[in-house]
Amino acid sequence: MKILIIGGGNMGLTYAQSFIRAQISSKEDMMILEKSPERADELAKKDIGTVYGEPDDCLQKADLIILAVKPQDTAVLFEKLRPMVHPQQVFLSIMAGVKITTICESLGVSKVIRAMPNLPAQIGQGMTAFTSSDEVTRIELVMVQNLLSTTGKAVYVEKEHFIDASTAISGSGPAYVWFFMDAMMDAARNMGFSNSESELLVSQTFLGAVELYMATNFSCEEWIRRVASRGGTTEAALKSFSESNLRKDIMNGAFAALNRAEELGKDAK
Ligand SMILES: NC(=O)c1ccc[n+]([C@@H]2O[C@H](COP(=O)([O-])OP(=O)(O)OC[C@H]3O[C@@H](n4cnc5c(N)ncnc54)[C@H](OP(=O)(O)O)[C@@H]3O)[C@@H](O)[C@H]2O)c1
Repeated sequence: MKILIIGGGNMGLTYAQSFIRAQISSKEDMMILEKSPERADELAKKDIGTVYGEPDDCLQKADLIILAVKPQDTAVLFEKLRPMVHPQQVFLSIMAGVKITTICESLGVSKVIRAMPNLPAQIGQGMTAFTSSDEVTRIELVMVQNLLSTTGKAVYVEKEHFIDASTAISGSGPAYVWFFMDAMMDAARNMGFSNSESELLVSQTFLGAVELYMATNFSCEEWIRRVASRGGTTEAALKSFSESNLRKDIMNGAFAALNRAEELGKDAK
């Protein structure tokens, strides 16, 4: 299967490298279309496939086309691609906010998969939600799931609404975690730890807590009960969190992200 990645930026490069590393595609089958000549030169040096500057030279050879440009670059790109695409080609878009119907109508195609990855995809620990138009076959979906899974976990969602919702949870989520980590590092520094000690204490605590959670069947609530003994230190912290409504603030933040994702989706129509 020939894959063409359009946009060889952060995500485009991550995908090309992940597919080849997982041996799910080969350099011979990988094509990257990159507009910026400097970036194209950098990509060519990485030896991850053939790099092109114009779609005329590569688009028609591709079975799967991955759209990995910024949403604001789509209008120009779609106009250029439209006369060259053919109906059997499958399109996988990772562009935030650009709806499946917009891609189908702008390109005159019907097989479109829309995915929302997140930044840890860069180290194979990503979380991607994806959905598709009705015309994509089960075999094509499995093939794309296998590709997405080379960057971490991938989950199929039935409705496109869940792509916006996953943007608010897993797409933006790493920033929420870093925000919480940063606040805890501040607290550690204020208690007298050095920068490097604060970073180590906090990052290893997050890593350990998540790995322990993943290794068992206990819910977060059960783990909290296990660690927070009555009258103890953890309980004191949790009491302070609940007095300041932290849980509600986190939920409100996630819903603010969902509202914004929906607004951006309307703008991108
Ligand atoms: N980064 C993330 O964690 C993440 C997560 C989820 C979704 N996404 C989505 O992934 C997409 C790509 O993000 P990114 O961070 O990889 O962006 P990026 O680093 O800016 O990469 C996009 C690349 O595409 C090139 N490009 C623009 N128009 C083109 C065209 N017509 N033909 C060929 N190449 C073209 C750009 O060149 P110029 O720089 O010259 O314009 C740039 O090198 C975005 O739509 C974003 O919403 C990203």
